[in-house]
Amino acid sequence: APAVIVAIDGPSGTGKSSTSKAVAAQLGLSYLDTGAQYRAITWWMVNNGIDIADPSAIAAVAGKPEIVSGTDPAAPTITVDGTDVSGPIRTQEVTSKVSAVSAVPEVRTRITELQRSLAASAQNGIVVEGRDIGTTVLPDADLKIFLTASPEARAARRSGELKGADLHSTREALIKRDVADSNRKTSPLAKADDAVEVDTTDLTLKQVIECVVTLVEEKR
Ligand code: C5P
Repeated sequence: APAVIVAIDGPSGTGKSSTSKAVAAQLGLSYLDTGAQYRAITWWMVNNGIDIADPSAIAAVAGKPEIVSGTDPAAPTITVDGTDVSGPIRTQEVTSKVSAVSAVPEVRTRITELQRSLAASAQNGIVVEGRDIGTTVLPDADLKIFLTASPEARAARRSGELKGADLHSTREALIKRDVADSNRKTSPLAKADDAVEVDTTDLTLKQVIECVVTLVEEKR
């Protein structure tokens, strides 16, 4: 089968990562978590004392860190200047700062280039998950999925992942990040006109995976 390119976008807590990884693994495709790349560059900014409130300070060093993503869905990895940052990029500090960093155009240009080159070199095809994959990064993707879920369902899933995190503050933080991601000037979170919208509120993860696998198979 020819290489198939699948773009999966949507806000956080919709099951994007779990779905994307499982679909890629089941179909023998590569997998790219673009949120991890924005988290990695944010981790580097924090670690290097860059003022997150100053977009021009971020822009000035956007090209500095070397970010490498492993694309095996069974074991996705991410390194910054050779250091594995898979753990540190999930902290609350990075999570609360990533929207400000990802809104800087120079950061997006840099990361988008990495994403396009990884997608182009994936032999069997790739599942790329993010916020602007179908609209900006890979507008010619073979299949575009836009995952949604109610704010309640998303907060419940996220606080389940964070083991015991307070539901109310999780919901507030998540909504704050979605609002920032949806309203930034440069390639905001948005559904592409030709994306298939899947509301996961009342679906199990297994059902969402099956739904997306079926849609990919129809395109192959
Ligand atoms: O998916 P995840 O929650 O890890 O994404 C972290 C952040 O990275 C998002 O809140 C958003 O600011 C940014 N992001 C983005 N574009 C993407 C993927 C993620 O701006 N394609």
